[in-house]
Amino acid sequence: MEMQLDKKEKYLFIETFGCQMNDNDSEKIIGLMSSLNCKTTDSPDKADIVILNTCSIRGKAEQKVYSALGRFKKLKKQRPDLIIGVGGCVAQQEGNRLLKRAPHLDVVFGTHNIHRLPDLIKEVESTRSRVAATDFFSFIEDEELFEYTYAKNGLENPIYMVKVSITIMRGCNNFCSYCIVPYVRGREMSRKSSDILQEAKKLIKAEVKEITLLGQNVNSYGNNGADISFPELLRLVCRLDGIERVRFITSHPKDMSEELIQLFGEEERLCRHIHLPLQSGSDTILKIMNRGYTREDYLNKILKLKMLYPGMAITTDIIVGFPGETESDFLDTMNLIKEIEFDNIFSFKYSPRQETMAASFDSQISDTVKEERLAILQETQMDITHSKNQEMLGKTVDVLIEGKSKTADGGAAILNNAKRNNAVNAITQLTGRTSCNKVVNLSASEEFMGRIAPVRIIKASPNSLTGSIWK
Ligand code: 5AD
Ligand code: SF4
Repeated sequence: MEMQLDKKEKYLFIETFGCQMNDNDSEKIIGLMSSLNCKTTDSPDKADIVILNTCSIRGKAEQKVYSALGRFKKLKKQRPDLIIGVGGCVAQQEGNRLLKRAPHLDVVFGTHNIHRLPDLIKEVESTRSRVAATDFFSFIEDEELFEYTYAKNGLENPIYMVKVSITIMRGCNNFCSYCIVPYVRGREMSRKSSDILQEAKKLIKAEVKEITLLGQNVNSYGNNGADISFPELLRLVCRLDGIERVRFITSHPKDMSEELIQLFGEEERLCRHIHLPLQSGSDTILKIMNRGYTREDYLNKILKLKMLYPGMAITTDIIVGFPGETESDFLDTMNLIKEIEFDNIFSFKYSPRQETMAASFDSQISDTVKEERLAILQETQMDITHSKNQEMLGKTVDVLIEGKSKTADGGAAILNNAKRNNAVNAITQLTGRTSCNKVVNLSASEEFMGRIAPVRIIKASPNSLTGSIWK
């Protein structure tokens, strides 16, 4: 039987929760679905297919998904043909439980099953059965998937993106005691460098200016299935013709090698920013978190980076209220963040995750204490970030202008080629980032979109900078 999807144009509404890995997976989903003649829409009312791409890294993830699903119940009642799917980490974790608890849900697809989505949807369409696919695969179902993404979505369609992420590896073998990732994303697996480079070249051809190499722990790229090491891969990407900027995320402090540190001095296109999650400044806590480094190891790496590259931005993640965290452990964290002066910190209250070691530890910390510690940390960091931003006042920095800012015209950082080519010279609110990954807002002509321009910083707020084009 011919599938309906192949004949008629359909619409996909996709909602993405969580990290950059999920954003990237959603792009793949869009690419795959376009092979079924399915375009994206911003309006669930117009959609034939609704996909929620979920995250379970912290708190109440399942509840969030059920409440998001609740919002589509009425729609499904009005239009029983609507197909609703849940993917991502919660899908991986909950599997069939999701189907049981949400009778209006049709498809559940786990983190290793994205490539199967078109088939799963066809199955639902033709048999009206409800399906869950949460197997783990010990290989990356790779080339075909990526061909789809960019051939159908990125290149042939007139969509222009200034910056794009490329997944270079997936999964994690570290088993930090608080973290669900190894359970929902599986073991580390690296893609072949030739596939990554081929993908990067396609993106550059499509005029992408900045590439971010993405993985849960990029430093272990090459340990599991790839032919070269991470620094080698990074160097090759930096040297591709036509690329302007290269970034990577996320690094693990224990695996950040000397070779990688040196690369910042050798590769001009490598952005001067590193995100290096510290999690805690207390040796006792780091140990029970199973992080594999001490406060001193971490600090030494930072001091080296700061000495070699003054002005390089360093950001981190901190968890407060990990089980057993005493006042003195928390002070160790506070002292270290004051000493290092990070450019920015993403800070979280510890959230027990099912299956992880730490969830069963005694001495869980009360929510009140977690709240207090989080507030203290965030207030301190706000001052540090603000004063770092103020140091930039009057300086001229190169900004890659990504698109219109949220305040201007809906604010997508994605623009349409047709629009771009006819760019009128209207002055509008634009937004971009420095090599250090700081957001700069500016009023300038639309013709600057997608270009790197010198921008003079004229205002510094705690969370952003304002500038004007400097000629
Ligand atoms: N509770 C709180 N924060 C967590 N993170 C990961 N797992 C948890 C958890 N169970 C944070 C870490 C990590 C970031 C992506 O999310 O800081 O670096
Ligand atoms: Fe989670 Fe630790 Fe792996 Fe990061 S390194 S994904 S925190 S287990």
